[in-house]
Amino acid sequence: MSDQFKRNILITGGAGFIGSHLVRHMVTKYPDYRIINFDKLTYAGNLENLRDIEHLPNYQFVRGDITDLNQLREVFNTYAVDGVMHCAAESHVDRSISDPLIFVHTNVMGTASMLQAAKESWKENMSDKRFLHISTDEVYGSLGEEGLFEETTAYDPRSPYSASKAGSDHLVMAFGHTYNLPVVVSNCSNNYGPYQFPEKLIPLFIRNVLTGKPLPVYGKGENVRDWLFVGDHVMALDLVFHKGASGETYNIGGHNEWKNLDLVHLMCDLVDQKTGKAQGTSRNLITYVKDRAGHDLRYAIDAGKIQRELGWVPSLTFEEGLSKTIDWYLNNEEWLEHVTSGAYLQYYEDQYQNR
Ligand code: NAD
Ligand code: DAU
Repeated sequence: MSDQFKRNILITGGAGFIGSHLVRHMVTKYPDYRIINFDKLTYAGNLENLRDIEHLPNYQFVRGDITDLNQLREVFNTYAVDGVMHCAAESHVDRSISDPLIFVHTNVMGTASMLQAAKESWKENMSDKRFLHISTDEVYGSLGEEGLFEETTAYDPRSPYSASKAGSDHLVMAFGHTYNLPVVVSNCSNNYGPYQFPEKLIPLFIRNVLTGKPLPVYGKGENVRDWLFVGDHVMALDLVFHKGASGETYNIGGHNEWKNLDLVHLMCDLVDQKTGKAQGTSRNLITYVKDRAGHDLRYAIDAGKIQRELGWVPSLTFEEGLSKTIDWYLNNEEWLEHVTSGAYLQYYEDQYQNR
């Protein structure tokens, strides 16, 4: 393929939540890069997330499976891929508890296949290449009341999801060490924002408030997460991809810890305010349900390294980000309706009926 583009970047999982924000950012910020979005379109992938940019000349969608090595070889070859931003994964902890094997298959075998395809394709010259693996803070396990995850924190994954992501991180580092593949890993905390599939806490609860359904808080709602607006994560990924050192890991987080119950109260009050309901209306929907098996108590990131070395800090406060996010869901009920038809309803019933 003749190459009028300065770089050819393969983004996997670009039709999902974080991937679609990353694709939008890369195609618009770098018109001289070709961005190839490689996605299987599982329940979590939705091309509607990219309607506004799909016409751009430097955007290319390829439907494919990261566990299919032959298909990956073809894509690397056809598009002369010289950079990878690897987002594709099974990403929801509750689904990993009810169906762990698909997580091992996609996250471990899929990442191994991506690494193998890159290694084969780049073997003549690795020097101007880059493989960014997008991972999670959950690989570090669970914190008590004190402390933060640092890049040197020992891995201690505790759910099938986080174990499969930890396995993929180890493979990435092993390919870097053994074959000199120019890899870099990012481990980020909980993201929120537009286009997040309504199985994760924030979009699920916004949807349930809008439809008057119960808000299923696991356990006592005392678990703590460190929330980051997806746009800030994407800015960090851009920096790590271009400026991160090979073989390094960068933690990304919001310095923004919330107990689940406090966060749910804040969301309820904001939705009531924005929809003109009496204060307290949505809080009445809160229902305490059986806890998640093996539920990690607390995640919190020390993002000092990426701040010191690459100059990244989050741009939005949580109040700004959450308000923007709620506005987006209020203005995009059609998107919510589309992604929650058919298969979603079955998932919802299986996940919540016996809690
Ligand atoms: P998501 O579930 O919204 O999207 C995943 C995407 O991957 C979907 O488009 C899906 O179709 C695609 N996909 C799944 N299996 C595939 C396969 N075999 N081949 C090709 N494509 C496939 O996920 P997300 O929340 O956007 O997370 C993206 C990445 O970021 C994941 O690797 C996740 O572990 C990581 N991460 C997520 C968060 C978060 O809070 N959501 C935080 C830190 C890290
Ligand atoms: O930390 C990064 C990780 O954050 C990502 O790697 C994962 O892909 C992403 O799903 C997320 O994992 P969590 O398990 O923290 O996110 P989730 O939105 O599923 O849950 C957030 C918290 O809310 C958690 O303590 C469980 C709780 N929860 C969740 C749901 C879906 C509830 O209380 N009720 C619910 O119905």
